[in-house]
Amino acid sequence: MLSKNNLSGDLFNQPIPDTIIKEVKLLREKINDADYKYYVLAQPDIDDYEYDMMMKRLIELEKLYPALITDDSPTQRVSGQVIDKFNSVTHTVPMLSLSNSYNFGELVEFDRRVKTLLQEAEVDINNLEYVCELKFDGVAVSLIFENSKFVRGATRGDGFTGDDVTNNLKTIKSIPLSVNHPIIKNFEVRGEVFIKKKDFEKINYEQELLGEKTFANPRNTAAGTLKLKDSKQVAARPLDIFTYYLRTDDIELKYHFENLKLLKELKFPVNTYYKKVNNIQEVKEYCDEIEKIRDTLPYEIDGVVVKVNSLKQQEIIGNTSKSPRWAIAYKFKAKQKTTKIKDIKLQVGRTGTITPVAELEPVFLAGSKISRATLHNFDEIKRKDIRVGDTVLIEKGGDVIPKVVEVLKEYRPPDSKEFPLPKKCPVCNSELEKPENEVNYYCINYFCPAQVQGRIEHFVSRDAMDIRGLGENIIETLISKGFIKDIADIYKLKEHKEELIKMERFGEKSVNNLLKSIEESKEKPYEKVLFAIGIRHIGERTAKIIASHFPDIDSLSNATEEKIDEIYEIGPKIAKSITEFFKDSKGKKLIEDLKKVGLKFQHEKKKIKENENFKNKTFVLTGTLENYTRKQAEELIESLGGNTSSSVTRKTDFVIVGSDPGSKLEKAKSLGVKVITEKEFIQMLKQ
Ligand code: IVH
Repeated sequence: MLSKNNLSGDLFNQPIPDTIIKEVKLLREKINDADYKYYVLAQPDIDDYEYDMMMKRLIELEKLYPALITDDSPTQRVSGQVIDKFNSVTHTVPMLSLSNSYNFGELVEFDRRVKTLLQEAEVDINNLEYVCELKFDGVAVSLIFENSKFVRGATRGDGFTGDDVTNNLKTIKSIPLSVNHPIIKNFEVRGEVFIKKKDFEKINYEQELLGEKTFANPRNTAAGTLKLKDSKQVAARPLDIFTYYLRTDDIELKYHFENLKLLKELKFPVNTYYKKVNNIQEVKEYCDEIEKIRDTLPYEIDGVVVKVNSLKQQEIIGNTSKSPRWAIAYKFKAKQKTTKIKDIKLQVGRTGTITPVAELEPVFLAGSKISRATLHNFDEIKRKDIRVGDTVLIEKGGDVIPKVVEVLKEYRPPDSKEFPLPKKCPVCNSELEKPENEVNYYCINYFCPAQVQGRIEHFVSRDAMDIRGLGENIIETLISKGFIKDIADIYKLKEHKEELIKMERFGEKSVNNLLKSIEESKEKPYEKVLFAIGIRHIGERTAKIIASHFPDIDSLSNATEEKIDEIYEIGPKIAKSITEFFKDSKGKKLIEDLKKVGLKFQHEKKKIKENENFKNKTFVLTGTLENYTRKQAEELIESLGGNTSSSVTRKTDFVIVGSDPGSKLEKAKSLGVKVITEKEFIQMLKQ
């Protein structure tokens, strides 16, 4: 018997005939099986019509008997709701990244390190095996299953906390919404969400038709799609996944190779190219083979991942705070081609940076047509002696924009001239400036149309204030009509509502949506506002760091350059840029105007998700932890309702010890304070 959800209403109280319950169960089994055969095995055994009919019948029955709806029903893959923002998810075990290698020598070096670490622990290295896998170029995600059901999925984020994208992940038909295994019921799976090359091209074609921005590559498309707030839009884009990691306490896991097989048994999609090998020479052969077939694969890969097979050996070898010592990525060389530079144009960025861009004779490279390459700055042009008319070698690595590797001087036309240093802004014709110790030239006219356009585009962009309905062309029109002169004017657009409705390509509905989105943006947190206002050199991550050190904009604007520079990870260039911004009358006015509008210029305390093991308990850390930096561990404890302190007293509840602990360990022992290892700490997190 299927269990009924605890819902109220007439429809929920009616008796459900057993025949219906059986039919619903059978329909779900058949649909799940069809999804598995189509999306995981790529061996469909029923036609689309039959599938559609089953789905239609299931939807019909669930409408008639809503009490039968379960979260893992195939009808629930697309949720009806559009969310405001993603919740944060703390990963129980951090999602580390991989260290890279670029040639065989570096792989041999990795093998030597692994063997030394094992020998130091007196492990027989004759048992050492590696598993080689493809390195998929996508987005890492974690999938949590509880009581056999998919309950939560998250992005990697900073490795420590990510975004809860469960609803979006549910749209991926190759992810089972529930598993059917007699023992394994509670577990975590990790993998890479990606989009096939063919689907990426289709999406870009559609974006072009709609007049929307196209995506640079499949990876960006997958990342952008996973961050959409409406899972209906996600469902319209064919995301896919390969899984490569399993963690569970339900059975003892011993080998990574067996884990991959288990994942297949649990009906997760596992790429078929994985291979167990006995030595580093065989790893090299695998890498060479894969590099040869790379272009024939229907999805993008950027290398191979090599992992120690035995999980016990993995544990002995251990991790650094960033990446495991038992695994390495072997990255393929970037793809190169030769072409000719037709012209060099100057672009003006939102903070006035002048970037030289080469216009190229179009060539196909790594799956796309290339007609431009960044030249970065004028030092680079000089260093590589790049000139208009030159034949050049261009390269496309993992990055979005191709670059010029070198000039093939033998093909240089005899009359070619050095590219001159810029003097005037190509857009507003004002004089350019080059700060000392910087390579860039800047247009310093704050009201240069190119800068205003760039500033507004940046401010409204998805990762900043996320204001919908202000595309490039509309911004251009609003600037030219004089409705927008600077960022704060966005919040005055409501005063021009009637004029906006009358404008071409605008209507009442879209103006209402735009104004609603503008109002909603006032809820964006301080760190987003700090990023959005576009201070030179302040990216998303830097804004987050700065916001966590200065609780409000006033304390930041009063801070000295030295004080900002003191922050770990913040350099003098950033510190100077921040103080200059607040010294400038235009910066001051912008902040005053945005304060009046009601934007958030204060840091809000993180919401606490209490855990009984941590609530009101005081923790002290000593030594180096393997999986967390000290700051990460402290943040984690505080986010669960605990306190942290730097010194041990009688009031301390737990001292967490890592490697090379300091005197705090002795103090804890002498005071009888409970001492726990990192492993025990992780155990407490899991409970
Ligand atoms: S294992 C700690 N296996 O590469 C081990 N990662 O550069 C890391 N990736 O964040 C995960 N293919 O997004 C693993 N077969 C594979 C992978 C893979 C792609 C990504 C993953 C990770 C990144 C690290």
